[in-house]
Amino acid sequence: MASVADQITEMKKRRKAVILAHNYCLPEVQDTADHVGDSLGLSLIASRTDADVIVFCGVTFMAESAKILNPKKKVLIPEPFAACPMASMCTAEQIRDAKRCHKDACVVGYVNSTASAKAEMDICCTSSNAVNVVSSVSEKEVIFVPDMNLGSFVASKVPSKEIILWNGYCPVHQAITQQNITDLKGKHPDAKVMAHPECRADVLSTADMVGSTEKMAEYAKASAAKEFIAATEIGMGHRLAKDCPGKRFYFPEHAVCSVMKMTSLQSILKALETMSPEVVIDHDTRERASAALKKMTEVK
Ligand code: 13P
Ligand code: SF4
Repeated sequence: MASVADQITEMKKRRKAVILAHNYCLPEVQDTADHVGDSLGLSLIASRTDADVIVFCGVTFMAESAKILNPKKKVLIPEPFAACPMASMCTAEQIRDAKRCHKDACVVGYVNSTASAKAEMDICCTSSNAVNVVSSVSEKEVIFVPDMNLGSFVASKVPSKEIILWNGYCPVHQAITQQNITDLKGKHPDAKVMAHPECRADVLSTADMVGSTEKMAEYAKASAAKEFIAATEIGMGHRLAKDCPGKRFYFPEHAVCSVMKMTSLQSILKALETMSPEVVIDHDTRERASAALKKMTEVK
């Protein structure tokens, strides 16, 4: 009997499918994917692929973004209940209320949000382009949703803007403390510290670099250092170890995103066999969310 990974390869060919996986997915899922990356990289691949079917391994907002950016494709999400908790911290109605209170403000929204929330945004951003996106808007006042930590980080880099922060956060990154980093640094004094901008400001203040998961991979590859402390989700360890043989990476042990771990080889195979569950977004929401996402992809 062929292994599950071999069966996936076979089904993938038959369905003319491409498998995309986020850097936080389980190692075996990353190893089976055609592309592994951060939110921005995967969105761009999804928007340009000529495959008939996109299988998205990650969380629901990522699969929704793929569908919004490339609506003619069938987008499968093997685990349709893998929802990012931060995305539920900002509803479309709450954004409409905020816009009523700040009439001159532009809404910049992190992609870690639902499709209906994106439909209310002027422009989306990811952790890798948030600073450039906020710098690119003409309004001085910016409502930044939903991640307050990423919003504060952007505010520190773009002082010319008045950033109105939201009360959302990633529970995984929020739980990483400065003490966690100090403890790891005590054990590995030569290690460089890389931190995801979803971390709290006091954690970011300890970092040698702050960036998206993909930027971390680039930094670790290019650095002469041999050891790194990564203030992010532990799934990133697999990607980093693959990209940087001979280098060592240390994580706060509790930095585990359970929804990112839901997708398994079995659920990918089942999705390809049954061609479900499929991402479906109503036309009006998709059109409005698409404008905000497309604007983001045009920012250099
Ligand atoms: P990246 O875009 O840096 O990969 O992070 C997105 C994220 O938070 C996934 O949870
Ligand atoms: Fe959401 Fe945080 Fe998990 Fe990313 S790591 S999917 S932001 S809960």
